[in-house]
Amino acid sequence: MKISNDINEAAFWLSQNKVVAIPTETVYGLAANIYNEAAVNSIYKIKNRPSNNPLIVHIKSTRELYKYVENIPVKASLLAKYFWPGPLTLVLKKAAHIPDYITSNKDTVAIRVPAHPATLKLLESLLFPLAAPSANPSNSVSSTTAQHVLDYFGDKLPFILDGGSCAKGLESTIVGFEKGEPIIYRLGALSIEHIERVIGKVEIRNNATQSPDAPGMFSKHYAPKTPLYITNDLETFLTENNTTNIAFLGFDKSLSHSKITQNYLLSAEGNYDEAATNLYKTLIEIDSKNFDLIVTQYLPEIDLGKSINDRLSRAAFKIN
Ligand code: TXA
Ligand code: MG
Repeated sequence: MKISNDINEAAFWLSQNKVVAIPTETVYGLAANIYNEAAVNSIYKIKNRPSNNPLIVHIKSTRELYKYVENIPVKASLLAKYFWPGPLTLVLKKAAHIPDYITSNKDTVAIRVPAHPATLKLLESLLFPLAAPSANPSNSVSSTTAQHVLDYFGDKLPFILDGGSCAKGLESTIVGFEKGEPIIYRLGALSIEHIERVIGKVEIRNNATQSPDAPGMFSKHYAPKTPLYITNDLETFLTENNTTNIAFLGFDKSLSHSKITQNYLLSAEGNYDEAATNLYKTLIEIDSKNFDLIVTQYLPEIDLGKSINDRLSRAAFKIN
């Protein structure tokens, strides 16, 4: 296993049909040649990912989109033009040569141009696009540094292309189309506000309960190992709960209480972009300590606050 910023070496391993970790502006990915079935199968195996969960195809430029998809809706072209390279994935009807093992037999393909200089150079040097899911075992928190990838996968990869800390720190926003109209399938690092400025109102259909006060359990995803509890009523929670060794994950304000061992702030300045960038690395850092519980609150539903709340909901073992 080697970690370096040598793009040629990354290209070498990928051309040998090996899986290589690559940096993007959102999170690190586990990449392989989309046309090599064995290499793509290894991605699924390494991540322990169910085979019915399709992969995102990473291409080198917006100009190339037409090669991989058919019937590009006007609003999809506009989004690609405004936001690529960038943290946006489009789900469009796939071209016939996109293998079914990339799309889990769907007739659509998820595709994006990542905005990371090293990975764009890498894509330029390759004769094939890269399939890449986030570089984490299924259901755990995504990696935003080369060190995170190393800690998760160690010797399972020949090479990690080190591109530093991911600037966005949250996965891309996924937009699909039905009858030419956009639907957001996953909230992410491109805010709805940005999208709507370009193409008008969009529908959100990401089947997470959006309402911050909805109680109950969510299917686990993006989850830290330490149980995470989301509450709107911190005072009551801290009074009634017996747990003492608590990490408080705050947006911009810390909380002092005898049961809280340590405060972690996502952005002391109350900046949503910065909070998104810090979310996963903070969860991973908290997980490396021995807290009994992480307690947090939803952020205001503004800009990337919405995307952060979506990830918190999926990471939580309980919301109250
Ligand atoms: O920011 C990102 O998007 C990162 C970086 C590495 O590019 N990648 C990423 O991949 O987050 P992954 O595999 O962790 O998430 C891809 C999501 C999955 O939820 C998958 O179900 C969805 O994209 N997806 C892929 N193909 C699809 C399709 N044809 N239709 C609907 N959803 C699709
Ligand atoms: Mg993922």
